[in-house]
Amino acid sequence: MKKQQLQETVDYLKSNGIDNPEIGIVLGTGLGQLIQEVTIEKEIPYTDIPNFPVATVEFHSGKLVYGELSGKKVLVMSGRFHFYEGYNFWEVTYGIRTMHGLGISTLLVSNAAGAINLSYKKGDLMLLDDHLNLQGGSPLAFKGANEFGNIFVDMLAPYDKDLNARMKAIAKQNDIQLHEGIYASVVGPQLETRAEYRMLQILEVDAVGMSTVPEIITANQIGLQCLAVSVLTDECDPKNLQPVDIEDIIAIAGKTEPKMITLFKELLKEL
Ligand code: HPA
Repeated sequence: MKKQQLQETVDYLKSNGIDNPEIGIVLGTGLGQLIQEVTIEKEIPYTDIPNFPVATVEFHSGKLVYGELSGKKVLVMSGRFHFYEGYNFWEVTYGIRTMHGLGISTLLVSNAAGAINLSYKKGDLMLLDDHLNLQGGSPLAFKGANEFGNIFVDMLAPYDKDLNARMKAIAKQNDIQLHEGIYASVVGPQLETRAEYRMLQILEVDAVGMSTVPEIITANQIGLQCLAVSVLTDECDPKNLQPVDIEDIIAIAGKTEPKMITLFKELLKEL
């Protein structure tokens, strides 16, 4: 049933001109400016796509954008689905399976995250080298998940080593500071307590957010090459915790996004 549902979605998008995208891009909270760089061929609101979950959080524009960026055919999810919005993990990762069904082979993911590693500052970027799934569930834990691929998928390198090496070289060439570290995904939507930040420090996490991990697990099941970047929007020091507000997080994400756009555009040229 899920396979058929997904097929309907893919067929609809194919018949609406989304034709062999090469690379999928997921834009995180506050990160929508990349769309302005895409030579857009098609723009489809999530609400128009059969079986697609519908974005509920108002700061997500919620659309699929197809076009060209750095000479590559890209499919961009502007607005993603979070577990904290009440979607289940199948829904949270539906866009990834859809983009795969349409033909992407590479997935670039972005997110806004809090810095747990206190040598990282807000406004910095971090390349994900590994992750901790602290969402208490798996996007591969449903009946029939094995129809989509191996559910016992190996997580030795959820983020592609070669893509990460290229991205680090690109950052260097462009004088953009790019940390590399471990991202922990929590459910949210509340931010963490001081005790939780301390726990994350003990777990040697570098950044914390509320997304990405379910999408990356799914992408690994279906064999996509993945890369993910966190835009660090706040510093999570349990000894000196400052109140954060989601508007600030969005503002910092927007201010930092141009650096991320440069990295993504340069990487696309090399793919
Ligand atoms: N936790 C803390 N700070 C954050 C988060 C989070 O999940 N996302 C963005 N900044």
